[in-house]
Amino acid sequence: MCDDELIPPSADMTEDEWLRRDPSLGEGPVGQRVREMRALRRRSVLGGVVAGAAALAVLPGQAPAAAAAGTREPGKFPLPTGPNRAGEYAVLLTGDAGTGEESQHAVAAAAREVCTAQGVSLAVGLGDNIYENGPESDHDSEFASKFEDPNSGLDMPWLMVLGNHDCSGLIPGSGGDPSRGDREVSYAKSSRRWYMPSRYYNVALPAAGGAQGDPLVEFFALDTNPVTSYVMQTDPHYYWNGPYMRDQRAWLDGALKASRARWKIVLGHHPYLNNGKHGSAGSYDGFVIGNYTSGIHLKELYEEVVCGRADLILSGHDHTLQLLEPTARTGGTRQIVCGAAAKSGDGKAHFNHPSTWQNFSDHGFMLLKVSDRAMTVEAYTVDVATRKASLAHRTRTATPVAGARV
Ligand SMILES: [Fe+2]
Repeated sequence: MCDDELIPPSADMTEDEWLRRDPSLGEGPVGQRVREMRALRRRSVLGGVVAGAAALAVLPGQAPAAAAAGTREPGKFPLPTGPNRAGEYAVLLTGDAGTGEESQHAVAAAAREVCTAQGVSLAVGLGDNIYENGPESDHDSEFASKFEDPNSGLDMPWLMVLGNHDCSGLIPGSGGDPSRGDREVSYAKSSRRWYMPSRYYNVALPAAGGAQGDPLVEFFALDTNPVTSYVMQTDPHYYWNGPYMRDQRAWLDGALKASRARWKIVLGHHPYLNNGKHGSAGSYDGFVIGNYTSGIHLKELYEEVVCGRADLILSGHDHTLQLLEPTARTGGTRQIVCGAAAKSGDGKAHFNHPSTWQNFSDHGFMLLKVSDRAMTVEAYTVDVATRKASLAHRTRTATPVAGARV
């Protein structure tokens, strides 16, 4: 099962309250997974291994890492140090990929062909990297079966963000245990591809000519889970108004303000605006009450800190491909949803935010291309049976949003 089947019975309940309220969840695939998770937890507590490793991976209050191109770590695919021969950075965008199933392999194979032809030197994984409950340890074999193996040949650094399935407690996809995401941060130390120096971070890439001048593009990767979970957070560190989210907001505000990059790109698993069935921040899955399920505080974060300052918000969560229109409401920021790297949508739009192009049926991925002249996004659909990609849409803008509201 996956998040598609999760219908919260009530906003802001803990996982235990949710399971007690609806005992039927104890049956079928959800119940099976809950029993597996409980067994794993018992073994972890008795062994004192998994929980301890996760707790030590990133201590509360640890400052996020900032990185710049040119930083070379032995054994890792390096961040690109300059635009390609076309004068641009070409970046692969994928989301909700981590199933390990044939559809993930097919999309990755199709992307590999396009990336080779287009000089792609960086990739983005927009969360839900390891279905259904994230990794069970820093070295879980799922990192191989659901990331390294499918992406073999896509030999570049992957900027990874945490999705709800990466941070789930007992209930798959609940987002109710953000600390589990620490294992994905730890895994970055041993992977050539997986780039996640901390739970939220920024990466700047230089313009042609080197690192002396202003960066050409900067990425700001967020952890949206503590303000979007299907259940109430139980660790005070991760409360919607707790120290973790306060620190992340202050960091993002400061980092966007300080950035001198021509193009600014925010990466967050949960979208601000979304025409797919999960809906938009503030009313996710039909809820408009509570501090967690509706995403009301992520809506605040996007509107108060990001809109009008970043050129793009790149998200997954919905298993669709959407290029939404930048509008006055968004301060000129464009929302993109790209979560169809392993699963596909239900074939129809559920909301009507202005859209440049959208697809609710196909698997696919996107390419982002940035130069000092323009930013272009190309959407590709993938035929899983043939493992072939088709360019479905291209949109281009020459005017950065940055500087409009600093
Ligand atoms: Fe998700």
